[in-house]
Amino acid sequence: MLTFHHIGIACRDITKTQDFYLHMGYTASPIVEDPVQHVRISFLEKEGAPRLELLEPLDEKNPVARTLATAGVSPYHICYEVEDIEAAIAELRSQRFLLVNDPVQACAMDNKRIAFLYQKNTGLIELVEAQP
Ligand code: NI
Repeated sequence: MLTFHHIGIACRDITKTQDFYLHMGYTASPIVEDPVQHVRISFLEKEGAPRLELLEPLDEKNPVARTLATAGVSPYHICYEVEDIEAAIAELRSQRFLLVNDPVQACAMDNKRIAFLYQKNTGLIELVEAQP
């Protein structure tokens, strides 16, 4: 039901964090600004390696900024692709996850709908619906 999609990494400066991964042979997507999530985003991909999403906050109130303040540059969420985001949210709620936000379109992901859920023993999970 949940198919791995990416690991989200909170970073202060996307271009500086990209440097290491580009050196390691990853390919970076163009940086996109998401006005809904108040972040700048770039995806990093490499054959045989997990897809990474670099997130740079646009303001200090952002949850990415709070992650940076407490943990520094670090993994911040794991994203899974699902066929039906409402059904997946209902299933995760039955597993004691709290819905952080209702599904919203993500401009950095072809306007597919995403949602974040949190459970204290698992942490933050993002869902992305397979079809926009
Ligand atoms: Ni993500």
